[in-house]
Amino acid sequence: MDQEIIRKIRENTDIVEFIGKYIPLVKKGKNYFGLCPFHNDNNPSLSVSREKQIYKCFVCGEAGNVFNFLMKFENISFLEAVKIIGNEIGISVFLDTPKKEDKNKAFYDIYDLANKFYQNNLLASEGLEARKYLEKRSLDLKVIKEFQIGLSLNKRDSLTKMLQKKGYDLDILNNSGLSSGDNDTYINRIIFPLTNINGIVNGFSGRIYHGEKINKYLNSKETPIFKKGENLFNYNRAKEAVRKDKFVILMEGFMAVIRAYTIDVKNCLATMGTSLTSDQINLIKRLTNVVYLCFDGDEAGINATLNNGKLLSDANFSVKVMPLSDNLDPDDFILKYGREKFYSLISNAISYEDFKIRNLKKGIDFNNSSELSNYINLVLKEISLINDEIEREIMLKNLAKETNVWYNTLEKKLNELLSKPKVVLNTSSLSLKTKPKKNKYEKAMQAILYYMLNYKETITIVENSHVYFPIETYRILVREISYFYEKYGYINMADFKAYIEEKKELNEVLNEIMSLEFEAPTENVILGYLMVIKDYNVALEIKRLENLIMNEVDPIEQAKISNQIRKLRIGSENND
Ligand code: GTP
Ligand code: MN
Repeated sequence: MDQEIIRKIRENTDIVEFIGKYIPLVKKGKNYFGLCPFHNDNNPSLSVSREKQIYKCFVCGEAGNVFNFLMKFENISFLEAVKIIGNEIGISVFLDTPKKEDKNKAFYDIYDLANKFYQNNLLASEGLEARKYLEKRSLDLKVIKEFQIGLSLNKRDSLTKMLQKKGYDLDILNNSGLSSGDNDTYINRIIFPLTNINGIVNGFSGRIYHGEKINKYLNSKETPIFKKGENLFNYNRAKEAVRKDKFVILMEGFMAVIRAYTIDVKNCLATMGTSLTSDQINLIKRLTNVVYLCFDGDEAGINATLNNGKLLSDANFSVKVMPLSDNLDPDDFILKYGREKFYSLISNAISYEDFKIRNLKKGIDFNNSSELSNYINLVLKEISLINDEIEREIMLKNLAKETNVWYNTLEKKLNELLSKPKVVLNTSSLSLKTKPKKNKYEKAMQAILYYMLNYKETITIVENSHVYFPIETYRILVREISYFYEKYGYINMADFKAYIEEKKELNEVLNEIMSLEFEAPTENVILGYLMVIKDYNVALEIKRLENLIMNEVDPIEQAKISNQIRKLRIGSENND
């Protein structure tokens, strides 16, 4: 793509305003700070610089310009990010379809065709019974349209035939999961399309509607475009609502999400009956760090609440629970009690800790002293895990009240628990990038590159010094920076980053350099670093010669080499 257009888009987009639309930023000194959306952040560690037009996270090391932010945030390619931001400011960008998508394009196309086919079936005469079923479940045409609900026919191979006619062979149809052999996978089921985080259909869930004695739901198998653990039902549709409401409601089944949508609760996602994966947790983290769990009211739902609540708490989410009574699921609850009752369920959500304690209490006979003391110990242990002092005190007071045990006794016990060193388990599977320590030579090269990018005078000094950068990536970066400067007459990190975006290796090093922070250098500082790099070259040369001596048998040659080494050593000492 045209570099000029990319630069124009970048120049006309202020990074502080742009990132500020996604996460709240607070000004501190020269820079703006916010919670980093790319790792489990507690304290604002993402810093955004208006001056440099870049962002960087001090903890996870993520860094880049506006394009990189959007790429990471929305999981899209560089060119897609350029296109989206370009559109926002009225610069249209035409893309050739990127290669990676080409590979999966056939799968997406097949799912798209199937989706349209299924939707048509539902509205055709063959769909009468299915439509009746949906009507009985109070799903009207508006919801059917919104969620693109469809129907697979009660025929052996109608979809497979249709797709074959469109030119897809059985191999790819079988790989897509929509056919097995020359039969359709989905026969006589109501079809709910599943989508990726950008709202593109990548799978289906098909439900029986005749009460057959087969599995109620049939989900797509894993394909190159559908990974169960990376999908959350309704993600794309809920994005905006979650960012606006500042919390997400997580449910077990997608029917519940659809039902909530009908009463204008649009910030819901569904796990589709499995426990959250770390990928899914990261997806939620991009939207909010407040999760309300609204799982089914039965035993399984309670266990799922406890299990997912722990995963989310460990990942630093604030977790609340909306407990449902009488074994109801959210769908049944809304149908039975209506919109207002569900709204009050949301506003009366209890903390995850309270939910756990409520659960411990179940079946305890408060008149049985050993059961009671056992209960008290379990609750105290839960309370000891809470960080907030005020919250701990409130819970302790409640415990004293409900058990009739003196507050001070409970407090003493709690303090004993608190004084024990806590084993901090980091169960969140988000590992922060641990950077291997750099030696002083590499640090010097990075510093020089940093100065070249931020203080253009450095470029000429480096060019005039003719210092050889002994690591190839750095050498190329020096050359590219010089080239960029010569061509455009200026240099900055944000534009240079966009300029080398497609070059992966350079990009990695550049990201490290972007997260550095140095004051304006004097010429001596720059010359000092260049000297360190020169010394490194000498050290490398000495090493090479030493190896040569070891393999040399001729004493005269050996003497020559050792003389060379001596000269190099003196030379480098003189430089100090
Ligand atoms: P309805 O019975 O239509 O009201 O759906 P539900 O949301 O009440 O379903 P349920 O609570 O039984 O299950 C919750 C989620 O688990 C569903 O949304 C499905 O994703 C999944 N699930 C349920 N039954 C099956 C099944 O038989 N096979 C598979 N693969 N998934 C299922
Ligand atoms: Mn249900």
